[in-house]
Amino acid sequence: MNPPSRFSPSPAAAPISHARRRSLVREFAIAAAVLASLSTQAAPPPGQLLASQCFQCHGTNGRAVGGFESINGKSADDMYKKLLEMSTRRPEGIMDVQARAYTPIQLKLIATYLASLPAQAATSVQR
Ligand code: HEC
Repeated sequence: MNPPSRFSPSPAAAPISHARRRSLVREFAIAAAVLASLSTQAAPPPGQLLASQCFQCHGTNGRAVGGFESINGKSADDMYKKLLEMSTRRPEGIMDVQARAYTPIQLKLIATYLASLPAQAATSVQR
């Protein structure tokens, strides 16, 4: 048997029915509309993604639950200084290890984002 010729008509080259073409046009229009709406969505604030990691321990959006320290709505400068110090000193506590995972620029983004969140008192878990 001969291998398939490069010039044999492929199924993709088969004529497309009118109904199929209309459906393809409609699908393309939907895809274009979805893409257009995605591109107009606001980008998340810088630092949000980096800071989301902190919320595992310090509570959702930095509002602490059950004895942790809240980290939302504090001074960005103070937070940045603390984080920078933690990241550069000899690691002893859990936060030193956390802070070391970021560059100073990332720590600044985190501190700025956390400062933009409303300050809320820590809460305790209702059981
Ligand atoms: C694995 C849990 C955990 C994660 C994740 C975590 N922390 Fe902490 N953090 C702690 C604990 C425990 C303390 C209190 C004890 C200490 O300071 O080591 C603390 C304390 C702090 C303090 C107070 C330190 C002081 O001396 O005033 C700040 C500020 C802080 N964390 C910010 C952050 C930020 C910002 C992030 C994210 C980059 C983060 N934490 C991620 C556990 C965590």
